[in-house]
Amino acid sequence: MSVRGRLAGKVVVVTGAARGQGAAEALAGEGARVVATDARPEGDCRRLDVTSERDWTELAAELRASYGQVHGLVNNAGVTWRARVGDVRPEDFARVHAVNVTSPLLGIQHLAPLMPPGSSVVNVGSSAALTGHYPVAYTASKRALRGLSKAAATELGPRGIRVNTIHPGFIETDMTASAAPVFREANLRETPLGRVGTVHEVAPLVVFLLSDDASFITGAEIPVDGGLTAHGGAKSLSDALRAEPT
Ligand code: NAI
Repeated sequence: MSVRGRLAGKVVVVTGAARGQGAAEALAGEGARVVATDARPEGDCRRLDVTSERDWTELAAELRASYGQVHGLVNNAGVTWRARVGDVRPEDFARVHAVNVTSPLLGIQHLAPLMPPGSSVVNVGSSAALTGHYPVAYTASKRALRGLSKAAATELGPRGIRVNTIHPGFIETDMTASAAPVFREANLRETPLGRVGTVHEVAPLVVFLLSDDASFITGAEIPVDGGLTAHGGAKSLSDALRAEPT
C-alpha cells in the first residue's frame, strides 16, 4: 500500500455521510478527495437529499466543473421503518423504497457519466437483504437494491465501472440505537462472533471495494455481519445441541 493511501487521486462521493457508517467511510478516505453529503449535513458535509433529482443534477454539475471526473460512489444513505407486514402503510413502504433503492439508482444515473474506467460504486445493503427480517419495507427495499446492483454491474461493466454491495449486520449507529434492547440481544444470540459491529469494521471493506485492489470484483455481495447470515438459522440448533451430552 502506498503511503499516500489506496484511494489517492480519486474523487469519491459518499451519501448519508454526516453520521454513522457514512461518516466513518468518509473519514477513512485513504487519500481520496471525499465529497461527503447528507440530507442533514454537519461539519464539512455538503447538503444532498438522495431522493432529490435536482440535488443530484446540481452535485454532478459541480463535480464536473471542479474535478471533471468521479471515481467512486458510496450509496450509503438509508432509512429503516419498523412496521410489520400486517400494519405497514403503503406510503411508508414507498418512502423507504425511495431512499433505499430509487436514490442509489439516481446516484448511478447522475454520476456514472463522470466515471472513467476503473471507477467503483458501493451500495450499502443489509443483512435484511439476505433474510426475512421483520421490518418489511426495509427488507423489501434492501432486497430490491441487490437487484439494482446486479443490473448496474452488468450494464456498467463494459465501461470498466464496478458495482458491488455490502451487507452489514448489527452495527452500532443511531439507526440501531433507536431499536428496542431486545433487538440487540436477539442479534447477539444469532451472531457467531457474539458481539455487534462498529462503523470502523465496515469502512475498510468499502475502501477496499473502491480501491484498485478490487479491480476484478464486480456484482459481488459481501456480508460484514459477524457471521449473522452465514448459518441460515442453524445457530440456535447448534447452540442447543452443544449444551447436550453427546
Ligand atoms: P444512520 O441513521 O446512523 O445514518 C444514516 C445517514 O443517512 C444519516 O446521516 C441521515 O441523515 C442520512 N440520510 C437519511 N435519509 C437521507 C436522504 N434522503 N438523503 C441523504 N441522506 C440521508 O444509519 P447507519 O447505520 O449509518 O446506516 C448507513 C447504511 O447502512 C444505511 O443504508 C443502512 O440501511 C445500512 N445498514 C445499517 C445497519 C446498522 O446496523 N446500523 C445494518 C445494515 C445496514
